[in-house]
Amino acid sequence: MTDSLSSYKSAKSAENPTNSSSHITNRFIEPVVLIRRMALGIAIATWVVMAIGSATRVMNAGLACPDWPLCYGSVLPAEQMNLQVFLEWFHRLVASTVGFATIVLFSASWYFRKDLPKWLPWATSGSLSLVVFQGILGGLTVTQLLRFDIVTAHLGTGLLFFSSLLAIATALTSNFAYARSASTKLPWIGLTAAVLVYLQSILGALVASQWALHQCFATQDMCIVLNAHLIGVIPATLASIAVVVTAWLFKEISSALRLVATIAGLLVIGQIAIGYATYRLHLQVEPLTIAHQATGSALLGTLVCFAVLAFRANRQDQPLIQEQNQAQPAIR
Ligand code: HEM
Repeated sequence: MTDSLSSYKSAKSAENPTNSSSHITNRFIEPVVLIRRMALGIAIATWVVMAIGSATRVMNAGLACPDWPLCYGSVLPAEQMNLQVFLEWFHRLVASTVGFATIVLFSASWYFRKDLPKWLPWATSGSLSLVVFQGILGGLTVTQLLRFDIVTAHLGTGLLFFSSLLAIATALTSNFAYARSASTKLPWIGLTAAVLVYLQSILGALVASQWALHQCFATQDMCIVLNAHLIGVIPATLASIAVVVTAWLFKEISSALRLVATIAGLLVIGQIAIGYATYRLHLQVEPLTIAHQATGSALLGTLVCFAVLAFRANRQDQPLIQEQNQAQPAIR
């Protein structure tokens, strides 16, 4: 099967047989590989930022830095440093690095746009918009004293940004994960599961940001929010199981796609077990609560990758990059 990068190279050679191959081989790294690696790296860093954000919340450190964007008016508040200040300060530090890295990703994708799929600069522009919005929400969580709707929107936007980077990185992978022929239903099942897990994560963020578990056990308040999250387990789990079952039923799909589906299945089982333990232990074990957030994000990311790979598998006769570059003349 033809690799999308080699398809791309042959397309470029066909366009300009005299110089395109030297143009390509003289490069230290192909733009498409560069962008793919950057997007994946930023996605992993974002996953870490979200886990640190969860730790910040469970350790009651959300307002440990009372000002924003600096902390106690300083870039490094050495005098005030304790565990809580460190968590909030470190969360901001890694988040800012992610923000700057996204600006570099955005700039590189526009600079190399001639050598990239037409949609890519627009996709990185979308990711940049999300991370800018995320930064504004991060500031508002402090200035609005951890208002629950802002805290929830902060996690929701973070998850969207994370998903957008994974979708970009997966869409640029070489064709190793292609199936010879895949079910047309497979991508839609994957997308449905990803959407349901995203909505379930928003419900979880509503529970977390309002301390609904404590309130429900102590005063019977907020039980409706907690129960909505518990009921939401059913559709999210069923859709994730449907991904695994369908991936194993279709003999033609690639082993890589089946592996991604299996990882999603294992993550959903782990997520339910951790969620149940969090619930039973009344959030007393902080690492469990952080693990619940981190596993939920990993599950969402895995389903996003699955859906993108499955969409690509359905388009395997029209390699992504070649097709789009032929349709779009070079503009740089
Ligand atoms: C597909 C399954 C699930 C997903 C995707 C999911 C996702 C999430 C997310 C993203 C959060 C927010 C965490 C944070 O902001 O730190 C959360 C919170 C929570 N989840 Fe889940 N969850 C799932 C299943 C469960 C289950 C089965 C239970 C219990 C039986 C549960 C109990 C909780 C509780 C109690 C919280 C609040 C934690 C806190 O206040 O820090 N979850 N969930």
